[in-house]
Amino acid sequence: MKVLGLNASPRGEESRTLRLVEAVLAGAREEGAETKLVDLYTLRIEYCTACGSCYATGDCPLMDDFPDLFDDILDADGVVLGSPNYIDSVTAPLKAVFDRMADAIHCQMLTGKFGCSVCTAGGSGQDEVVAYMNRVLTTLGATAVGGVGVAVGWDPTALERAEGEAVNLGKKLAESIRGEHTYPEQEELHRQRREYFRRLVSANRDLWRHEYDWYVAMGWIEEE
Ligand SMILES: Cc1cc2nc3c(=O)[nH]c(=O)nc-3n(C[C@H](O)[C@H](O)[C@H](O)COP(=O)(O)O)c2cc1C
Repeated sequence: MKVLGLNASPRGEESRTLRLVEAVLAGAREEGAETKLVDLYTLRIEYCTACGSCYATGDCPLMDDFPDLFDDILDADGVVLGSPNYIDSVTAPLKAVFDRMADAIHCQMLTGKFGCSVCTAGGSGQDEVVAYMNRVLTTLGATAVGGVGVAVGWDPTALERAEGEAVNLGKKLAESIRGEHTYPEQEELHRQRREYFRRLVSANRDLWRHEYDWYVAMGWIEEE
């Protein structure tokens, strides 16, 4: 069982969000997972230019660290997203990663995987950012098992308490990967989303050749 944690704070070892990501990974390890942590600020992730190559061919012409990161994501059974709240959203490198996954969203490439999200904020907005990151995970086809958000500016003990919650979240992530929890509402959402993208990919099959071929190869569409 492999769990990959991404932290998207520019503050390296000083990052409070890192403490939550590390706590989730520690919880997952307690349940037997092998874990890997990536600091997104050490990677070079270019912005998506909307060229449409990935839809058509499955390949991106940008030469940077994204392909290796995406291989790690595809290799993992569980993905942990961590970001501080920057103006009510994730930090720019994580958004850049999301934007590079439009093809992965059309193709529902994280189907069968599980994920969760953590966020720290100075004063507010942490739960909204957690909800946003989890929505991205589910839009990619993964099942979100929960999240931890904490505002650190009000109470100096809040982060430590949140770390305890994050350890439990990591355990739940590992248990979910082992099939010990069920998520019937998300399964229904996955079914609806895949049907939506099946219709969209089918309607654009001349332009989005790679995506159409993917759906055929997955057995999600019957070739016409
Ligand atoms: C550019 C920037 C924008 C921020 N925006 C918000 C915000 O909108 N709301 C908030 O409560 N905190 C905001 N913060 C504070 C951070 O979310 C907070 O300090 C967080 O714990 C930092 O996480 P880190 O230690 O992992 O880097 C912002 C900080 C920076 C540098």
